[in-house]
Amino acid sequence: MTHHLARDIRVLSETRGLERVAAGYAADAPSPPGWIKPGPAEVWIALSDQTWLRFVIAGEEIGGLWTLRLVLAAGLMLIGIAALGVWSARKVTAPLARFSLAAQRLGANVDAPPMSEEGPSEIRQAAKAFNGMQNRIRRLIEDRTLMLAAISHDLRTALTRLGFRTEFIADAEQRRKAAADLEEMQAMLQSTLMFARDDAATEPVTPVDLAMLLQSLCDDLQDAGQAVSYDGPPHLTYRGRPVSLRRAFANLIDNALKYGQEAAVTVAEKNNAIEITVGDRGPGIPESMRSRVFAPFFRLESSRSRETGGVGLGLTVARTVVRRHGGDITLDDRPGGGLLVRIVLPASPAVNP
Ligand SMILES: Nc1ncnc2c1ncn2[C@@H]1O[C@H](COP(=O)(O)OP(=O)(O)O)[C@@H](O)[C@H]1O
Ligand SMILES: [Mg+2]
Repeated sequence: MTHHLARDIRVLSETRGLERVAAGYAADAPSPPGWIKPGPAEVWIALSDQTWLRFVIAGEEIGGLWTLRLVLAAGLMLIGIAALGVWSARKVTAPLARFSLAAQRLGANVDAPPMSEEGPSEIRQAAKAFNGMQNRIRRLIEDRTLMLAAISHDLRTALTRLGFRTEFIADAEQRRKAAADLEEMQAMLQSTLMFARDDAATEPVTPVDLAMLLQSLCDDLQDAGQAVSYDGPPHLTYRGRPVSLRRAFANLIDNALKYGQEAAVTVAEKNNAIEITVGDRGPGIPESMRSRVFAPFFRLESSRSRETGGVGLGLTVARTVVRRHGGDITLDDRPGGGLLVRIVLPASPAVNP
């Protein structure tokens, strides 16, 4: 009350002079239980010209104060509830982030460690179900690998026997063709087995000089009389799996040479990533096929592939390896004709275990 009146009193007293100020409740009002009283309060001010200045603060005014307190309290409560809401929503959605991370890890590697089964019961159940699913997928893959290994072992034994039998083919031309067919079958079995074993998952991560690795690949092919060029720094340290990476790059360069007669390899560091491109001057890959060529055993028109061999695992293996390193492969038209394969590896890789 003082606070509210002080200014007015000061203004008034400046011109007329202040004699006496009295404040209190009207005589007929019941005595106040606390310092807030619902009844009207009065302030009397004696002025030097013998007049009284009287302020009456009506009950409504005090009620107004009550409303203010109510609004304040409600506001505080609202803020409290909002804070609680945000907190609990966070608590509920935080495990979702863990789920998406676990799903990502599973996508890259089925042997990734299981999710921790903690938190509210629904989350625990979901995590349990997720881990169960991961186990089933892993068993499925193990079974598949064992089956493939068993089949190819038996097939190889049979192929060896067949190899001996071809010796008895009288016609020399037929004998030569049969031997070539057998050799092709053996090579296909070999690459299928290698794909099924998936060595990339178990190879340890070590520092590797990517530039050196690519250069040596290019040099070897150049020595063999192939049109391969390398354009990049002499050294580039990276943490990854050297054997798998070498196989991935070899597959891409091999494709460029097989389908595009030349391989132009470039390496460059670009904003926290390493970009490697392999370009050729072949027919390229039509846009509609660019995602399908990565599928296992998928090959474009057989007429083109017949004389070039291969079982359609090269790009599959390359992409698996690159994705294990947290990167990706994209296919593009090369300016001036041909295919441009672009590999982007994050420089500080989140290598999946
Ligand atoms: N550089 C390229 N130019 C044109 N076509 C390509 C190129 N690389 C791959 N392809 C196509 O993609 C298919 C899949 O490639 P890949 O997985 O390496 O299998 P493979 O080489 O054993 O056939 C190939 O059969 C080929 O038709
Ligand atoms: Mg290939």
